[in-house]
Amino acid sequence: MNKIELGVNIDHIATLRQARGTAYPDLLDAVRLVEDAGAHAITIHLREDRRHIQDADVYAIRQMCTRRLNLELAATDEMVGIACDVLPNDACVVPEKREELTTEGGLDIIGQFERVRSVTQRLNAANIRVSLFIEPDIEQIRRVPDIGAPVIELHTGTYANATGESKQHELRRIQEATEFAHNLGIQVNAGHGLDYDNTQAIAAIPQIHELNIGHSMVARAVFVGIRQATVEMLELMQAVRAGA
Ligand code: PXP
Repeated sequence: MNKIELGVNIDHIATLRQARGTAYPDLLDAVRLVEDAGAHAITIHLREDRRHIQDADVYAIRQMCTRRLNLELAATDEMVGIACDVLPNDACVVPEKREELTTEGGLDIIGQFERVRSVTQRLNAANIRVSLFIEPDIEQIRRVPDIGAPVIELHTGTYANATGESKQHELRRIQEATEFAHNLGIQVNAGHGLDYDNTQAIAAIPQIHELNIGHSMVARAVFVGIRQATVEMLELMQAVRAGA
């Protein structure tokens, strides 16, 4: 069976905690439940403004998580320094603007080639597997080997927000970008805006290795708990891979 993995982004459990400055909900409890449900990775984004995940969370989760830790980070010296100290298994380099609600769009690795390459090389040297969060754009993907990142995460936000024919068009872009990157020997992950309705079409792309999903799962967890929300998402993803 052609397997697909799930990284659960728990940033928004921290958003709920930060809204009141309380000690709860406890992120470490969330990590235990998500891992127990069968997730393959824990994903967290330490933002420059520390709006949800805090530095102490990153260290505490690193200590206790038993699956892969995927740290999302901006291409800044501060974040690379923290990553090289924490040593997550994976680091996903993302664009970051202070005023945005969430990560909007992929990294421009053509425009920021030197910075992204130098960040990637520093993380590679620390044995952290680097993933670049980019748009499903062939010209961007063409430059990935020169940057030296073994993994990309395709931004699925435009697909998630599209409706009607443009949704099919966005899905085709992701399929073509995945195939192109896979043929270059790059591991392809995907994420952003994926939910219980739109994930299966992405999970059905056979070369996609991992999905990183957060907001929709934390929202679902309000009603069914984060363990069940994780089980449900894994079942959806795996159903379209069964027998593939
Ligand atoms: N992948 C990356 C690189 C992200 O920045 C985010 C949002 O933090 C996600 C996946 C998860 O997106 P969502 O919360 O919309 O599922």
